[in-house]
Amino acid sequence: MEVKIYKDKIEVAHEFCNYFADLVADKNDFHVALSGGSTPKLIFDVVASKYGNKIDWSNIHFYWGDERCVAPTDDQSNYKMTHEHLFSKIELPKENIHRILGENEPKGEAMRYSNLLEINLDRVEGIPQFDLVILGMGDDGHTASIFPHEIDLWHSKDHCVVATHPDSGQKRVSINGAVINTAKEVVFLVTGKNKAEKVDEIHNKNGNFKSYPATLVAPKSGKLTWFMDEEAAGSI
Ligand code: 6PG
Repeated sequence: MEVKIYKDKIEVAHEFCNYFADLVADKNDFHVALSGGSTPKLIFDVVASKYGNKIDWSNIHFYWGDERCVAPTDDQSNYKMTHEHLFSKIELPKENIHRILGENEPKGEAMRYSNLLEINLDRVEGIPQFDLVILGMGDDGHTASIFPHEIDLWHSKDHCVVATHPDSGQKRVSINGAVINTAKEVVFLVTGKNKAEKVDEIHNKNGNFKSYPATLVAPKSGKLTWFMDEEAAGSI
């Protein structure tokens, strides 16, 4: 595991963009699972402005590690956020966007997306393998849409599961732990002081770290990188 700590979220965004551009530079078929929430917004803006016309996007296929069960036009939609901050600003073939259909019935959509991953991605011991999985972490220690109150979903046999947000009750479709830990590379993008407590517990193996899904992220490849700002990294 590698921990990269930068001054602020703008520096995190620029450093991650350089890392991403280097990673995809010599690839002609690259499959990446994106995170949702708010942290990626600035990062996607920087990717688009800095590398928009420098990366051959036709080689890159985009998926999501999780999606909120809402329409793609809804402000809660991770797809909508990504379209506004990245896709609308780059030359990306539509067929390279593999959206979780948040507007569909959650269980059926989880199965459909599981099948799509099996068809589109190489498999390792039957588990679809992404080239890169990008994750965020909630201030409750959740990642993708695997929340502490449903941590058993991490071990589900289904590549994609239906989860429930602990406060809003909102349904989510999320990849499971096996898909995350089978990825060739996994990156955490974590910024802001509200994440510092869980970052401290997870990295120092104290407090309730065992109850946080983010603690279970341990790709078999060993390639795990945390990109953080000083606020999130706090005392580690
Ligand atoms: C989502 C995410 C989720 C997110 C964390 C952090 O759909 O909400 O994929 O796992 O990464 O909740 O969210 P913020 O970046 O908004 O803090």
